[in-house]
Amino acid sequence: MVNRKALTTSDLLKMKQNGQKITMVTAYDAPSARLVEGAGLDLILVGDSLGMVVLGYETTVSVTLEEMIHHTKAVRRGAPQTMIVADMPFLTAHYSLDQVLQAAGRLMQEAGAQAIKLEGGREIADTVAHLTRAGVPVMGHIGLQPQSVLKLGGYRVAGKSDEGRAALLEDARALEAAGAFSIVIEAVPEPVARAITDDLTIPTIGIGAGRYVDGQVLVFHDLIGLTFGHQAKFVKRYANIKDTIEQALVQYRDEVKGEIFPALEHTYEA
Ligand code: KIV
Repeated sequence: MVNRKALTTSDLLKMKQNGQKITMVTAYDAPSARLVEGAGLDLILVGDSLGMVVLGYETTVSVTLEEMIHHTKAVRRGAPQTMIVADMPFLTAHYSLDQVLQAAGRLMQEAGAQAIKLEGGREIADTVAHLTRAGVPVMGHIGLQPQSVLKLGGYRVAGKSDEGRAALLEDARALEAAGAFSIVIEAVPEPVARAITDDLTIPTIGIGAGRYVDGQVLVFHDLIGLTFGHQAKFVKRYANIKDTIEQALVQYRDEVKGEIFPALEHTYEA
């Protein structure tokens, strides 16, 4: 375990001002959180990508608040000294202000998150303002919003047209004005994310948003090579853990069948 204090929202602001890049990665359970904390990443995101990555759902739409709380608790146990941001599940941003406050409160008080993340732009600015006035640190999420995949009919790069670019900038400005401490920008052309980053005081964290943002986020399982199926262009695999696990499992199977495992050193004496 590293000995350090979890970063705060003002630390992140200072990092932007000093031109220091912010590192964030997702985690969904205690062992992965422990590894992330040990590696000294700045932030952990308990993303609702957990639905697809570890729960086997088709989209993030199925993820419930109870599941987010359950996994955030596990991440908190694994990474007690890292700032944790927890995703608010599908539709929560559109609940009544009391309900949204209650949901955010549960993620922070019961589960141990220091901040919550909400997908959406101008349309959720009032909700973001309500949460931040109540003391909830809010991270925004614009560009490709995976919770809208069923409405959009797929995962697409956002902000390619002039209109789309202008809308993204307006969304980012509205979130900043509402009190968000940071904004995730997902799957947006590099110049668009750069323009938003230059325009805002608060830090931007990109995923598929190119180089000129204040920080980067990747999904843990993408980064270590433990995903199945399509891989987005913006992912860089730093390891190929899936192959390692497959080889280990096949070897274990063969050794048990071939009576190689367990060997004498794995047994207890009488
Ligand atoms: O749920 C998630 O993992 C996310 C990241 C892709 C930013 O929202």
